[in-house]
Amino acid sequence: MKALITGITGQDGYYLSKQLLEKGYEVHGLVRRASNINTNRIDPLISEFRDEGKIQLYYSDLIDSSSLTNLINKILPDEIYNLAAQSHVAVSFKNPMYSTFTSTVGPITILESIRNLEKDIKFYQASSSEMFGGAEKVVLNEESLFEPKSPYAAGKVFAHNITKVYRESYGIFAVNGILFNHESPHRGETFVTRKITRAVGRIYHNLQTNLTLGNLDASRDWGFAGDYTEGMYAMMQNETADDWVLATGETHSVKEFAEKAFNHVGLNWKDFILTSEKYSRPNEVHHLLGDASKAKNILGWEPKTSFDKLVKKMVDSDLDLANREKVLIDKNLMTPTWEYAT
Ligand code: NAP
Ligand code: GDD
Repeated sequence: MKALITGITGQDGYYLSKQLLEKGYEVHGLVRRASNINTNRIDPLISEFRDEGKIQLYYSDLIDSSSLTNLINKILPDEIYNLAAQSHVAVSFKNPMYSTFTSTVGPITILESIRNLEKDIKFYQASSSEMFGGAEKVVLNEESLFEPKSPYAAGKVFAHNITKVYRESYGIFAVNGILFNHESPHRGETFVTRKITRAVGRIYHNLQTNLTLGNLDASRDWGFAGDYTEGMYAMMQNETADDWVLATGETHSVKEFAEKAFNHVGLNWKDFILTSEKYSRPNEVHHLLGDASKAKNILGWEPKTSFDKLVKKMVDSDLDLANREKVLIDKNLMTPTWEYAT
């Protein structure tokens, strides 16, 4: 089996390609040209599988429709996982056009390419719980209404709907995975969970003195990314294409996450956390809680990693990373990181 993954260099791209390679898939991935090498998450997979030709990467971009179409025609994959996006909600308010182009032009280009080919290619769209808007404290499932609160979410709603349109109009096996927040040691460092666990690691090793966050009361249904990419695969192997929610069914506030993360190294979060308006958003998604019963009953999917285990896994990994950084900083081989703007 051949899979093409857009967003292979991201968090989910790493877990999904690892799992597909371990199942014997040939994995083809789209990478963006950047001035710095951006394959660090998947470098271990590249060195393990490159010689067998099991992993192959190509320069392209979701908004470069012709290169994307050419790639699909050349590779003729069995499955396409569209994971690429400008995925930071706060940044989407600053770069609304770029964020929206990526989320909308990308999937429609891929779906058109699939429609024009003789081969039956399955399509996975990375939909998001952010589409629900999270204004009310309710449990959300596949039937819940979308009330997007950001350019990011509005773009994802378009992609979700167009995926459904191609499924219903042309019989394409096109799936929407409506995933609630999922995190890991490979999470981008400007998302709140990783921002916290990175700070815990650095504070513990005396590389940082405090941590500034935005809204501490927001709550999210946080799961482990590796469990969720298994869910993506399960959706693609189901007999019929559909829309699926993946969630843990538990919600926790940013404050609770921080408290647990600092507690894990014997520190009190209140001694280190500051808040600033600069991390608040023009419009906030206050509360997200999902119900993944449909995925559980039909796909047999369930999250395996508890909230406690997730927090510990991320803190332990970032303690290790900060320890390695400390060695380099002490030898003047590295400059300590500045505070990120998101
Ligand atoms: P991520 O770590 O931010 O990765 C995003 C990926 O998209 C990266 O590989 C990035 O490449 C690539 N990308 C960005 N713009 C692109 C463009 N114009 N053309 C081609 N590639 C582009 O995101 P993630 O957490 O793995 O999430 C994967 C997908 O699921 C995203 O679509 C996200 O919106 C969605 N989602 C995520 C969550 C979550 O909680 N993680 C929940 C629901 C939905 P670079 O490495 O070069 O930046
Ligand atoms: N990033 C960030 N930085 N968020 C903060 C901070 C901070 O300093 N302080 C508080 N927060 C709050 C945000 O306001 C938000 O309510 C919550 O923490 C989670 O923010 P993020 O971790 O940035 O994630 P997100 O929920 O906005 O978006 C993620 O999950 C979506 C699924 O619901 C992303 O992965 C999206 O791509 C994904 O679709």
